Order: sequence, then C-alpha cells, then structure tokens
Amino acid sequence: MKIGVIGTGNVGGTLGSRWAKGGHEVVFGSRRPESDEITDLLAESGPTARAASPAEAAFASEVIVLATPWPSTKEILEGLGDLTGKIVIDAVNPLLPGLAGLALGTDTSAGEQIASWIPPARVVKAFNTIGNNIMANPHFETDSSVLLYCGDDAEAKAVVHELAEELGFEPYDAGPLTQARVLEPFAMLWISMALKYGYSRNIGFKFLRR
Ligand SMILES: NC(=O)c1ccc[n+]([C@@H]2O[C@H](COP(=O)([O-])OP(=O)(O)OC[C@H]3O[C@@H](n4cnc5c(N)ncnc54)[C@H](OP(=O)(O)O)[C@@H]3O)[C@@H](O)[C@H]2O)c1
Repeated sequence: MKIGVIGTGNVGGTLGSRWAKGGHEVVFGSRRPESDEITDLLAESGPTARAASPAEAAFASEVIVLATPWPSTKEILEGLGDLTGKIVIDAVNPLLPGLAGLALGTDTSAGEQIASWIPPARVVKAFNTIGNNIMANPHFETDSSVLLYCGDDAEAKAVVHELAEELGFEPYDAGPLTQARVLEPFAMLWISMALKYGYSRNIGFKFLRR
C-alpha cells in the first residue's frame, strides 16, 4: 500500500519504517525532509521509503499515519490538502504536558475531534494504546500484544487490521469511533503503568474471551 507518515518521531518513524521493510511504499512527510534524522530513518527503512513534505506525503498516499503532538495536530491537518477517501490512522493521544493526564475525554475524544476536522477522510483510531517500543516489537514470550482500534468505516478498519497483523499484533475492532473515548484513557493506563508505576515500557495487554 501507499502509506504516508505525518509526524516522523517515535511513533511515525517506527511504524513507517516497519511497513516499508515489509514492502509498502512509505512516504515520510516531514517539516525537514533533508534532516539527518530523516536520512537515518530512510537508510533504516530501505528502498521503498522516501521523504517529502507532509502535504506531498498525504497526496501520494492511500493510508496516512497521524502521529503528531496533540496541540499541533489541527494546524498540521490544515496543511495536508484534500484527504477525501483517504484512511487516516490516528495514533494521537491528547496528552497534557508532563503526561499529567488527558486534555479532553468522556464526552468526546481526540479521535472524534480529528475526524471532525477532516470529514472527507476515514479515521481509524489505532496504535495509541501501546508504546513505540511495542510497535517495534509486539512479541512477548508466549503471546503478542493486542492492538485495539475503532472507527466508523468498515473497509478502513479492515485495512488497519491487516496492517497491524503484518507487524505482529493481535488486532481487535473495538467498535465505532466514539470508542476513542475509552481507547485514549486506556493509553493512559499503559503510559502510567510503564512510566510511573514501575512496570517499565516492556508491557502489553492480552485480550481473553470465551
Ligand atoms: N511515544 C509513544 O510511545 C506513543 C505511543 C502511542 C501514541 N503516541 C502519540 O503519538 C503522537 C506522536 O508521539 P511521538 O512520541 O512519536 O512524538 P515525537 O517523537 O515528538 O514525534 C512527533 C513528530 O511530529 C512532527 N511535528 C510536526 N509538527 C510539529 C510541531 N509543531 N511540534 C512538534 N512536532 C511536530 C515532528 O516530525 P517532523 O519534524 O518530521 O515534522 C515530530 O517528530 C502523540 O500524539 C503521542 O501522544 C505516542
């Protein structure tokens, strides 16, 4: 698939690089596509990756990974041009400074806000509930990390499901985009247990059912 990455840091860099290594055509959309960081990222990602401006990356892609800081996200989206029909994987968490909590929630979510800013796009909330180190390697001794996602477009969710499986995750559809209201606080559970309450970043969640 043609995948554009908007926000080429921990999350965008890891996901984009792994999908490029799997053979997808990845365009890293960066404010500084000529920077040393992007040069290193391209070298690591292999021949199917290239760098461009964020707007060029969005234009060239069927799937866009949005991995930007919450406070800048609206402005970044405004600069991407026409996103009609494109699948936008929203990995953004609306974090308060110092990981103190979430800037919004309960009766809305970053996922829903983002979808309202780019209504012609098909937004799937995904990859927000685990750290970028788990995106790099979702495998644990006996199991793989679950990957919960949500959205309102069945076809877009099927694409995200497949992309998550390709990375080694065990993906589950958590329902419509309003479920971002619970997936974003769920991310805070991972973040606080990993960074504050002593479990380290090498943790993942398992989904059981019978
Ligand atoms: N880190 C994690 O483990 C993790 C896990 C799940 C979800 N998330 C969420 O994913 C998003 C990205 O997190 P991250 O850790 O990847 O962040 P990061 O390493 O700081 O990367 C963010 C990227 O956004 C781009 N950007 C564009 N405009 C920006 C601006 N005005 N200010 C700062 N950066 C700007 C930058 O890429 P360019 O310079 O190339 O434009 C930057 O590298 C956040 O919403 C976060 O809550 C993070």
